[in-house]
Amino acid sequence: MPNQVLIAYYSRSGNTRRLAQAIHKVVGGTLFEIEPATPYPSSYNATVERARREIQSGYRPPLKRGLASVEPYSVVFVGSPNWWGTIAPPVASFLSEYDFSGKVVAPFFTHGGGGVQNMLADLKKLCPNSRVLEPLAVRGSMAGAAEKPVVDWLRRIGLGELADNLQE
Ligand SMILES: Cc1cc2nc3c(=O)[nH]c(=O)nc-3n(C[C@H](O)[C@H](O)[C@H](O)COP(=O)(O)O)c2cc1C
Repeated sequence: MPNQVLIAYYSRSGNTRRLAQAIHKVVGGTLFEIEPATPYPSSYNATVERARREIQSGYRPPLKRGLASVEPYSVVFVGSPNWWGTIAPPVASFLSEYDFSGKVVAPFFTHGGGGVQNMLADLKKLCPNSRVLEPLAVRGSMAGAAEKPVVDWLRRIGLGELADNLQE
């Protein structure tokens, strides 16, 4: 059977990656790291500044590599850190590069205390023909201990059967 679950995420400092890995551990599927062709600086302040400019201008940074196709996937988990209240620009690039029409999109976010803010609304604009489910939002510092929240969230959004692959 073709693998039908894609877990695509961007993470600069590892929190969203840890959350993506927790989801992957529970549901399996293809894990894909979204990376900008030009990485963000290691300096936090320089990253905040570049992110501010990119978000204000609606810039979508080119990505380092792509997926051959999103066609085989019916459920797409999309992960982003909260940057200035919205999704990180590489995630916006990813969503605009592929056609997610007719697919189920399950967003997962990490944040530094702000929660979802505009992340969900802005993500929805980039996949207008998808069924976008309620997001999982986790504080960045908690992303490493997210397996139970992931399973609870999957049940809440109607994807509980994906958690049945879980190997105890
Ligand atoms: C450029 C930038 C902007 C951020 N803006 C916000 C924000 O507006 N609200 C918030 O709660 N956290 C904000 N954060 C904190 C991140 O969302 C949080 O640390 C996240 O877990 C980082 O994920 P990562 O480790 O996967 O990169 C920001 C972080 C960066 C680097």
